[in-house]
Amino acid sequence: MRPRIVVFTGAGVSADSGISTFRDSDGLWANYRIEDVCTPEALRYNRQQVIEFYNMRRRESLTKEPNDGHLAIAKMEEWADVRVVTQNVDNLHERAGSTHVTHLHGELMKLRSELNPNLIYDVEEVEQQLDARAEDGALLRPHIVFFGESVPMFEAACEIVATAEILIVVGTSLAVYPAASLVHYVRRDVPIYLVDPGNPDTRLIRNPLTHIRERGAIGVPQLIEQLRNEFSK
Ligand code: APR
Repeated sequence: MRPRIVVFTGAGVSADSGISTFRDSDGLWANYRIEDVCTPEALRYNRQQVIEFYNMRRRESLTKEPNDGHLAIAKMEEWADVRVVTQNVDNLHERAGSTHVTHLHGELMKLRSELNPNLIYDVEEVEQQLDARAEDGALLRPHIVFFGESVPMFEAACEIVATAEILIVVGTSLAVYPAASLVHYVRRDVPIYLVDPGNPDTRLIRNPLTHIRERGAIGVPQLIEQLRNEFSK
């Protein structure tokens, strides 16, 4: 039987690809104020700056490649039934080859109608034009969950996590809710492996927890190799 392994990732899984995290000392939130670029109010009153911020991040993400962490997670599909739940808006998991990826906080490569959250489009050009409109006539906005907005994929993500036989958490400070609370939806006694060189907030985790203090590109392939050996015994 192929084990169901759920991988829950944050910005740290893409750090080794050269994409900044948010809350590390050199992170995005050290250089931008959340309320200027990542809230519904900012989009309303500061539209140009918000769209430019996501144009910049989209442009940047296209110059980056999946790292050995993303690649190992994708390759794990050879022997496990893998589901990835990511807080990241880049598409490096997909580009690495992962086939079941749920994005909790939206996707950089998509835009949506400001009025209808179900009218979602793949970006046609890297730069979103300020006046581009959806087919309902509303302005387009980045398909990103801003602070203060609900997280439409949260319930689906909880259901996925509840099916885990093993949960691997990579590169997240576990500081942003509701995403961080996903670790509470694993069944009791399901082992949680956390790969993160820093100190995510694990205080509320009750399951057996192994913290591997390593960068994603090193720690994730090693952990997956170890799990593969255990399952092939
Ligand atoms: N490999 C693995 N983890 C790393 C690496 C690395 N090379 N470098 C840093 N990290 C870890 C940090 O130790 C930290 O725990 O990645 C984590 C990054 O935390 P945050 O910057 O808070 O990112 P994340 O948890 O994904 O943020 C959640 O906040 O603003 C938002 O919407 C945004 O989805 C994001 C959410």
